[in-house]
Amino acid sequence: TLRGSFARKAQKPNQSSHHGLQLQASYKVAILGAAGGIGQPLALLIKMSPLVSALNLYDIANVKGVAADISHCNTPSQVLDFTGASELGNCLKGVNVVVIPAGVPRKPGMTRDDLFNINANIVKTLVEAVADNCPDAFIHIISNPVNSTVPIAAEVLKQKGVYDPKKLFGVTTLDVVRANTFVAEKKNLKLIDVDVPVIGGHAGITILPLLSKTKPSVSLTDEEVEQLTVRIQNAGTEVVEAKAGAGSATLSMAYAAARFVESSLRALDGDGDVYECSFVQSDLTDLPFFASRVKLGRKGIEAMIPSDLQGLSEYEEKALEALKPELKASIEKGIAFAQKQP
Ligand code: NAI
Repeated sequence: TLRGSFARKAQKPNQSSHHGLQLQASYKVAILGAAGGIGQPLALLIKMSPLVSALNLYDIANVKGVAADISHCNTPSQVLDFTGASELGNCLKGVNVVVIPAGVPRKPGMTRDDLFNINANIVKTLVEAVADNCPDAFIHIISNPVNSTVPIAAEVLKQKGVYDPKKLFGVTTLDVVRANTFVAEKKNLKLIDVDVPVIGGHAGITILPLLSKTKPSVSLTDEEVEQLTVRIQNAGTEVVEAKAGAGSATLSMAYAAARFVESSLRALDGDGDVYECSFVQSDLTDLPFFASRVKLGRKGIEAMIPSDLQGLSEYEEKALEALKPELKASIEKGIAFAQKQP
């Protein structure tokens, strides 16, 4: 969690200066799309991390002010701004984790797939630059439709000869964050304890919360399972409608993405107990990409957790079969897009 980062106290008068803050910081993080609705609060949250020494912010517009502003926070990382294609390479050199929230968000009435035509090209261009400049980095894809943009990124990396499936992640953390919040609310549980794995993909019915595997275990009626599942699947749309044309989830998304970055950094730092759900190349089902809980380590995904897909409830088994055709089509659409490019 991010709690540790915010818990730091003001220095006592006779305490020696700067050490504590600088000791742990050693990782470089880049955000591509850093001046956007997600990018800005995400940059702020990552600036709070004691594990980050450099925070590189890239966007095609308005990034200078964001970087100047955030750079005044007295936390360890040095913040630099990069703009325009000519500065993208420098933004990425030596980076350990690249987060990509670049692209257009939904407006009311739109599905995530409606964003494909614009965002597919943006993700392709950005991942090409990642391949050329920091092929060893963990890559976190936020840009929608995640079910297609992650397969696009994989194809681009393959074309460049640097694809490591253990280091490419579709960010589905927000689905987990939402599931945890809604279940805790419904059952009156202490939020910090609740953990619901969410599998499948990141759009509509492809989002499948495994409520039967909630920790601590909760008992839910069939009706509660149905209500919670549908609310988690439509939570993004709930925000799109509330914002009424001004975009989709940005603040909760930034929180979720910051959690995934912090988990990745802890894994890179040798913490042996880091698990997150993510949309990744997978052999847990017959689909080539699938979201599930993965164990993170220094080299990316250290282990998949096949037991998470065993012992599902009847409701979950059915929902899993029902989501496969849509998820398969979205994956294939992404692959076809990347393969037909010159
Ligand atoms: P936004 O429009 O506020 O910000 C997007 C930013 O990307 C802008 O600053 C824009 O200048 C920048 N950008 C556009 N083309 C670029 C390029 N070629 N290189 C670098 N930057 C570029 O949008 P917002 O709300 O931040 O959403 C971003 C994406 O995240 C959308 O595709 C949205 O659907 C997705 N999203 C994903 C979620 C998830 O759970 N994975 C949740 C919420 C949103």
